[in-house]
Amino acid sequence: MPDTSPPVRRSLFLHAPIRRRPRVVLEQMLALVDDDTPPDGPEGPVAVLERRLADLLGKETALFFPSGTMAQQSALRVHADRLGRRTFAAHPQSHLDVWEEQGYNAVHSLRMRRTGDPHELMTAADLEAIGEPLATVVWELPQRDIGGLLPEWDDLCEQVALVRATGAAAHLDGARLWEAQTYYQRPFDEIAALFDTVYLSLYKSLQGVRGAVLASDTATMKVAQVWRQRLGGGIRDAWPLALAALVHLDTLADQMPAYREHAIAIATAINADGTARAYPDPPQTPLFHIHLPADRRAVEQAGQAILTEHGIQLWGRVRSASEPGRCAFEVSVGENAMEFSPDEVVALLHDLLARATSAAYVPSRP
Ligand SMILES: Cc1ncc(COP(=O)(O)O)c(C=O)c1O
Repeated sequence: MPDTSPPVRRSLFLHAPIRRRPRVVLEQMLALVDDDTPPDGPEGPVAVLERRLADLLGKETALFFPSGTMAQQSALRVHADRLGRRTFAAHPQSHLDVWEEQGYNAVHSLRMRRTGDPHELMTAADLEAIGEPLATVVWELPQRDIGGLLPEWDDLCEQVALVRATGAAAHLDGARLWEAQTYYQRPFDEIAALFDTVYLSLYKSLQGVRGAVLASDTATMKVAQVWRQRLGGGIRDAWPLALAALVHLDTLADQMPAYREHAIAIATAINADGTARAYPDPPQTPLFHIHLPADRRAVEQAGQAILTEHGIQLWGRVRSASEPGRCAFEVSVGENAMEFSPDEVVALLHDLLARATSAAYVPSRP
């Protein structure tokens, strides 16, 4: 199907700059190589990226994967096979369960034990209540689909210690580890040290093109490498993806605190205005949710009109809420969202809600 969506000129959602052109990305990548840079091997861009991220995370080995979906399936499979246990625990709104078509089950016959309240963070008490042997517990930091919440550091340490005492592995879905780090304000390797395996994304705040890295001890990564091959991810010539990720690696950590501050400023303005509600209040990371007193489909239609008229993308997806007539969407503050002042976001929400609650947009229920 041809893509007929209106062009996005500004966005509160996308990580990579809207006006990013393939040519600009290629030029940035070109600046990282010289005539002697090999495509593969120990001096190639993939190996360089893997070593740098292993160092950052304080792990023996990091391996490139084409996607986080594949990296996490491999980690879960390795832990399950090593321990001879088929069940892992994760939050009910884990990306693994909600957005990946339950690949852990369809491909690996693993079972997910949904743990904790769907709208709150997993707690130590939730983990203690499990009562069956687990291969792995997955922590998604921040927990994206409940507004980017993060457990307090001591609480997280207590949870991990509890799990480790049962012999289960601790796995970090660190797709947004850079975002989480702005809250914990601890070195990346201190955060990663809590976990046996750590996944991080190359294309979210790092603004690469696609791809992921999985990091752990060398023995674990040897087996993960076999699964990467079996799942079709042992691709040669992944150097363009590695180079695109390397472009921002040195500068990202300095920018993230400003993104978090701006998220807090936008959320504070929204909550002071009171028409919509930003959650959590204040945001813990550059990612937060905006809750709206309007029907999801009406809001989607209104947002589409704003995109068509002004080129402004407010979200990637609008979620319905259990309370009828309400919905929410995720804001991710990065380079794009820095262009919006808090007052402008409030004005956009007024416009959105005025449209969504006008007779023209209120949809008839099926
Ligand atoms: C929290 C989280 N985990 C895992 C993934 C999967 O990453 P990928 O798109 O690289 O498969 C995503 C992607 O959005 C994510 O947000």
